[in-house]
Amino acid sequence: MPFRKNWFSTLLALLSLVTVEAAWAAPEFHPGTVWLDTDGKPIQAHGGGVLLHDNVYYWYGEDRTPGLRSAVSCYSSTNLLDWKREGVALWQTNLPVVNQRRAFVERPKVIYNPRTKKFVMWMHVEQGRYDFARAGIAVSDTPAGPFTFLQVIRPVANTNDFAAADSDPALQRELGGMFRDMNLFVDDDGRAYVFYASEDNWTMYVARLNGDFTGPETPAVENRTWARILVKEHREAPAPFKWRGRYYLITSACTGWAPNAASYSTADNILGPWKTFGNPCTGTNAAATFGAQSTFVLPAPGRPGGFIFMADRWNPWNLPDSRYVWLPFTMNPDNTFTIPWRDAWNVSDFATQ
Ligand code: GAL
Repeated sequence: MPFRKNWFSTLLALLSLVTVEAAWAAPEFHPGTVWLDTDGKPIQAHGGGVLLHDNVYYWYGEDRTPGLRSAVSCYSSTNLLDWKREGVALWQTNLPVVNQRRAFVERPKVIYNPRTKKFVMWMHVEQGRYDFARAGIAVSDTPAGPFTFLQVIRPVANTNDFAAADSDPALQRELGGMFRDMNLFVDDDGRAYVFYASEDNWTMYVARLNGDFTGPETPAVENRTWARILVKEHREAPAPFKWRGRYYLITSACTGWAPNAASYSTADNILGPWKTFGNPCTGTNAAATFGAQSTFVLPAPGRPGGFIFMADRWNPWNLPDSRYVWLPFTMNPDNTFTIPWRDAWNVSDFATQ
């Protein structure tokens, strides 16, 4: 009976289509819930960032795995959802000893230098009282590392009068060089920049990197190779991105592990002037950035104007159990944007916002 056979195969084909469609449409990302790697273990990549290299995504972050003397972890993925743990990208034993104790790492980020063919990691290197406040730089020939630690530095020494609590020039130099929450950004022309909270978190700095990306461009000249931005706005957790030739920077206020309201700033020139706008978050708990703090903005694969906001929902009582809040957003035609809360979402949501 050819008709019946055809009918059956059509039905089967339709059913498989529905299954494929259902799998595609099923919510995949669940912001704020425990996110397991492909081995079934909670992902340990806090304060992190993502590098796309040769069609593979690499997620680097603070590795807070209990009992492991790891500073930075590396995970890989091709779909941004399923992450394989590549291992320890940087061991804590590579870090300097400060005040008799091994330093630790926060907010590591990695970029690739096509000229030297090296993966370059920058990070905030710190010790207990948070007054070490220096940049750490490490390199590797492969994305997963392990990275070789190069140096700790303060990228620029700012001797200007920026109204530090004390008028002592030495203290001003000290505070002006401070380096805490940070991020890296590679521009369309291949030049790279580091954004970081300086002046005891009162003012954000942006500094162009040298050709190897292993330090700041020298000699450092204010407003030519580096700049003070968001002056005295007291912001941290910088997450930069670029859209239609304009630079955007999402930041948080400075309240330690406790969440607060995000804001965003924009500029036509990366060294400024920058202008700050309000909180782009909307929906449940938007006033506290959904209980999270910005760490990175990732351009969405194949979706011009689509981005993924990456944030950390810190658990100060159990830092390894801090969660990830990843949310999609799409730029509006007038170049504004909002980041709406979603309990669950999948990559196809970019089209329906
Ligand atoms: C936050 C910062 C985190 C961590 C924390 C420590 O303000 O964004 O990266 O340094 O303080 O309290």
